[in-house]
Amino acid sequence: MNLSTQYLGLHLKNPIVAGASPLSFSLEMAKRLEEAGAAAIVMHSLFEEQLSGLPQQSLAPYHFTPEQYIQHLRALKRELSIPVIASLNSVREGAWVRYAQYMQDAGADALEINLYYLPRTDNESSSIVEQRAFQIVRLVRQFVSIPIAVKLSPWITSLPQFAHRLEEAGASGLVLFNRFVQPDIDIKTFKTIPKLDLTTPEDLLIRLHWLAALHSRTRLDLSASGGVHGANDVIKAIVAGARSVQLVSTLMLNGPDHIKTLLEGLKDWLTLNNFPSVDEARTRVDTLRRDADKATGRENYIRIIHNWERQHS
Ligand SMILES: Cc1cc2nc3c(=O)[nH]c(=O)nc-3n(C[C@H](O)[C@H](O)[C@H](O)COP(=O)(O)O)c2cc1C
Repeated sequence: MNLSTQYLGLHLKNPIVAGASPLSFSLEMAKRLEEAGAAAIVMHSLFEEQLSGLPQQSLAPYHFTPEQYIQHLRALKRELSIPVIASLNSVREGAWVRYAQYMQDAGADALEINLYYLPRTDNESSSIVEQRAFQIVRLVRQFVSIPIAVKLSPWITSLPQFAHRLEEAGASGLVLFNRFVQPDIDIKTFKTIPKLDLTTPEDLLIRLHWLAALHSRTRLDLSASGGVHGANDVIKAIVAGARSVQLVSTLMLNGPDHIKTLLEGLKDWLTLNNFPSVDEARTRVDTLRRDADKATGRENYIRIIHNWERQHS
C-alpha cells in the first residue's frame, strides 16, 4: 500500500501534515508528531509585525522572536527527518521578506505564506488587495528558491483566477483555507469576546467545495486545512483533490497519536476500494470533481430549495 504523495515538490510518506500552530512550539511535541506518522510539519507563523522594526516591548506577546524562530527552525531540522515548512504571515511588502531567505538558509523545505488580511477602508478595491498578494509572492520568490505555498481565506471574489495569478507569481501550492478570528459579543458588558475556537468537521465542507472546484483548473498543489478530524475527513479531502491534509484542532483535542488512527482508517479505505495508492485514489475518484460544478451550481441550489419547501410544507 503506497500512502506517499508529492506536495510542493516534496516527497511525503503520507498526506498527513501537522498544520501551522503551537504544535511546533516544542521539539518534544514535534518529535511525537513525527513518531505518530506525520509526514511533514508546518511551523507556527512568523508575523510581518514582528519583523518591521517595532520596539521590543511590542513583540512581547509573540512566543518567539524572529531570531528564536530561526533557531527553532534549525533545531526542528536537526531533530526531525520529515520536511519542515516555515510559515510567514504577511500582507504588505517590506523588509520582512528577507526572513524568507533566512528561513531557507536555516533549512526550511518549503515556505507557507499566510495572507491574513481584512480590508478596513472604503477606498481599497478587491483588485488592489489581490495585486498586493501577487506582489508579495513575487517578492518572496525573488528571495528563495524553495517551494512556496499560499494559505488563503475563502473570501476571494474569483478564486480560480486568483489561484492562476498566484501560480504566475511563483507559488507552487495553495492551502485552503486559513481562519479569521471571529470575536463574539458579550451582551451584558457590550464587550467583544476574543475567540479562536477549534474547528469541527462542518468546517471541512467549504474546503471540499473549493478543492474540487480548483483541482482540475490549477497546476498548484492543493492542501486542505480546516475541519479535518477523522479518517473520513482525510479521505474526503484527498478525493476532492488535496495532495496533503493539514491537521491542528484534532491533534490538539486527541493528541499526536490520533495520526495513527487516521492512517489506519485511510489504509482500510484504500484496501476496501482496491486502491494501491493514495495517488491512485485522488486521480481515479473524480465523482466529486466531476459533479462539483453541477452540485454547487444554481440549478442544484434551486432544486434543493424547492425540495426542502416540498418536504416542509
Ligand atoms: C491555536 C492556534 C494557532 C494557530 N496558529 C497559526 C499560525 O501561526 N499560522 C497559521 O497559518 N495558522 C495558524 N492556525 C490555523 C491552523 O493552521 C489551521 O489552518 C486551522 O486551525 C484550521 O485547521 P484545523 O481544523 O485542523 O484546526 C492556528 C490555529 C490554532 C487553533
